[in-house]
Amino acid sequence: MSKFDHVEDAMFGQSIFKNESTLYPEYVPPELPTREEDIARLARNFRSLLGKEGSFSVNVAIVGHAGIGKTALCKYTMKRFEEAANNRNIHVKFLYYNCHSFRSKTAILRNVLSEHFRIQSRGFSDEEILDMLVKRLTREEIRLIIALDEANMLNSEDILSIFHSGELFGSEQSMISTIIISRPIEYRSLLNVPLSGHIHDQMDISGYSRNQLLQILEYRANMALYPTSYTEETLNLIADICSSSQNARHGLEILYRAGKLTDLKHETFINPEYIRAAKADVYPELRRDVLEELRLQELLTALGIARKLTIKGITSTTIEDGYESYVLTCEEYDHELRSKSSFRSALETLHKVGILGKSVGPIEEGKRGRRAKITTFDIPATVLVERIENILSKPDVLKE
Ligand SMILES: Nc1ncnc2c1ncn2[C@@H]1O[C@H](COP(=O)(O)OP(=O)(O)OP(=O)(O)O)[C@@H](O)[C@H]1O
Ligand SMILES: [Mg+2]
Repeated sequence: MSKFDHVEDAMFGQSIFKNESTLYPEYVPPELPTREEDIARLARNFRSLLGKEGSFSVNVAIVGHAGIGKTALCKYTMKRFEEAANNRNIHVKFLYYNCHSFRSKTAILRNVLSEHFRIQSRGFSDEEILDMLVKRLTREEIRLIIALDEANMLNSEDILSIFHSGELFGSEQSMISTIIISRPIEYRSLLNVPLSGHIHDQMDISGYSRNQLLQILEYRANMALYPTSYTEETLNLIADICSSSQNARHGLEILYRAGKLTDLKHETFINPEYIRAAKADVYPELRRDVLEELRLQELLTALGIARKLTIKGITSTTIEDGYESYVLTCEEYDHELRSKSSFRSALETLHKVGILGKSVGPIEEGKRGRRAKITTFDIPATVLVERIENILSKPDVLKE
């Protein structure tokens, strides 16, 4: 009898997934059930770009809690908007940027120019780059719409200067429109008076009701899984779990992980037990890809802090203790040590992306001022350690 081949089985053995990649985080489905009104409102906001009398710049904000389809709504609607306009010979260009990956106005503008207009912008200032871009757009009559997702990674001044781009260079109308996407708390920290004066429509997106979540789960399960692998009850059980967070990603990740577990156990039907196991593994606030977008220095910082926090009885740490643990981590990975100030700025980033929390502790006797306490945010420290170590074990990651 031939030996059971685990690799062969994983590659070609049975799976309950008909189309697994439709549950990957970056996948945008061909429909967004229950979001019809938001889709229409977003598209309508950009109607003025289509008029004969010239284009106008429109700035829209999409604001709402985690996993409720802000990113999906934007990509879905604006891709179609672009296509429909181009089909009628109106030149609209839609570009999507996640500010976790592109963290400054400069990085975004340079990418717009080099990737989409083949203009080399090295050595030019931001103002000159914007000038080149606006001239090019004006000459070719291109209406550019830039989506800035996770916009709180930028600062208000950066966003404001993109808003101002048209006016600055004396062209009659600005050719650049924007969509700012953010969660509510982050949005509030970004918003100031000059900025809000430039937002034409702030779309506050609501969370999903249980019924809506069920509808979304039905649609996505049907696309990803063989129909014999689940029933209405399976999906109802998942909807029950994520109805409190009103978060579609929460439900879809549970579905995905429970499905993977079913495959792993060589079964053909998603057992409720697997749903409960998957539930414990999913952190609804955390995007699955957020750790992958971090730079090496930030990963090592997060790992240093998280390791400190896995020590029994410790729930928060200080910058000093965190830095010590970071130093040990760098030594272990044979990575060049950075100064405390760059450690601090990595901490700031980790706070912004929602991995680490920060609180200001009480004034301690005999010590000056308040000391910042660092904690993990949504995800437990042990899980964070495991996931980061996993990323760092991949080839090439440490070469950055
Ligand atoms: N109406 C819907 N129909 C089908 N799938 C949906 C719908 N709304 C959201 N999803 C799916 O749910 C997941 C989360 O959505 P998305 O990433 O757009 O959330 P988000 O609001 O941008 O969250 P975050 O604030 O964490 O970035 C994605 O996989 C998306 O495809
Ligand atoms: Mg998003």
